[in-house]
Amino acid sequence: GNRTFTMIKPDAFEAGHSGDIIKMIEEAGFRIVAGKVTQLSAELAGKFYEVHQERPFYGELCEFMSSGPIIAMILEKDNAVEDFRTLIGATNPAEAAEGTIRKRFAKSLGENAVHGSDSDENATIEGNFFFTQFDEVGIRKVAAN
Ligand code: GTP
Ligand code: MG
Repeated sequence: GNRTFTMIKPDAFEAGHSGDIIKMIEEAGFRIVAGKVTQLSAELAGKFYEVHQERPFYGELCEFMSSGPIIAMILEKDNAVEDFRTLIGATNPAEAAEGTIRKRFAKSLGENAVHGSDSDENATIEGNFFFTQFDEVGIRKVAAN
């Protein structure tokens, strides 16, 4: 697939790292095709992370993800899902490789700076959770000019 979905999480947004994170994303070859600053309610965070509802950290995760503004984006690149997971690094920043976004900016396992979709199917579901087709720029049309 050529698309993935990401959020700059409340910890990184609050710390003022959004610009540096977007710079890393663009320098890695991703193009932003949709994006917005928004804040999830606890209920919407719960819906977004529904797949984790049986996990012990679910409540904490939903509370954190609704605690402040985020930036949601749809990104385009060949092999987007896998390449973006490589760029962000391991879920736990203590295990994240040098040069990854989480190594640089994540504070902890819970407050780990960014989200990245884990499959093409979830990238589509998650992108559609935040955006409609009218929010997306026509990259191919622009590039052809
Ligand atoms: P996302 O890109 O955010 O989905 O992270 P991931 O795919 O690397 O991890 P996963 O989907 O397994 O978990 C979703 C999110 O739950 C993680 O990014 C963490 O923020 C959070 N999380 C995972 N494990 C724990 C935990 O043990 N404690 C807490 N507080 N949060 C956790
Ligand atoms: Mg995940």
